[in-house]
Amino acid sequence: MEQGRVAVVVGGASGIGAAIATAFESDGWRVVVADLPATDVTDEDSVAAMLDGVVASHGRLDVVVNSAGVSTLGNVVDLAVDEWRRVVDVCLTGAFIVTKQAGLRLSAGGAIISLSSLNARQPGAGLAPYCASKAGLSMLTQVAALELAPRGIRVNAIAPGLVVTPLTQPAMDIPGIEDDYLENTPLGRSGRPDEIASAALYLATAEWVTGEVLDINGGAHLMRYPDLHKHVLAAFS
Ligand SMILES: NC(=O)c1ccc[n+]([C@@H]2O[C@H](COP(=O)([O-])OP(=O)(O)OC[C@H]3O[C@@H](n4cnc5c(N)ncnc54)[C@H](O)[C@@H]3O)[C@@H](O)[C@H]2O)c1
Repeated sequence: MEQGRVAVVVGGASGIGAAIATAFESDGWRVVVADLPATDVTDEDSVAAMLDGVVASHGRLDVVVNSAGVSTLGNVVDLAVDEWRRVVDVCLTGAFIVTKQAGLRLSAGGAIISLSSLNARQPGAGLAPYCASKAGLSMLTQVAALELAPRGIRVNAIAPGLVVTPLTQPAMDIPGIEDDYLENTPLGRSGRPDEIASAALYLATAEWVTGEVLDINGGAHLMRYPDLHKHVLAAFS
């Protein structure tokens, strides 16, 4: 690999993003981790200033990964609009802001990689804003790939199935949910953050791949999404 390439991992302080930062570092990249509170994906000025800072201090920008994400649990009829907006703001509008600001600064050979989800294609009861955001993010990835291809910038996403991280641990603590996931995962186990990181490294250097949303989920997209609602009701009613 060419020496000194620079990757920014937004949302890189935890979980999958942290594993991606480690994988890029191990592969010889210079890595900048951007996360709350210094960088907020819902604040365009904050993302722009962070990326300007990276270019100023490292002299180049090759790959921007966006792993920032939040979720919430609640049925559509019970969900406060503010809670809907909180999730969509980070998971979809935040992804748009990172894609836009990265697209303004990357040059030919550059790549943008977002974290979508199995929920972009499989609905989960109780996860409306998250599912809707990730479905939107998968389409945003394809549109941005078309628009940025003439400039030689590739735009891809990874759609993981269950990976136990601080984001998903609270759901795993509800009896029945993890078993239901695993029963609906042909390969019979959850994923590890480093397995998602390997895919990010692949997409960073796959020079003929753009507009791809890569399912990495042990085959879970071939089956059904767990019935979260049933398990939540059983645990709390
Ligand atoms: N863990 C899974 O099973 C799974 C499955 C599918 C998709 N994903 C997606 O992968 C990504 C990473 O998830 P994770 O499991 O590592 O979660 P995580 O909670 O461990 O990490 C998410 C990171 O995003 C950061 N973040 C949240 N809001 C932000 C904001 N406004 N600005 C900047 N950073 C912000 C957090 O501080 C945190 O460091 C998310 O986009 C998530 O939706 C995760």
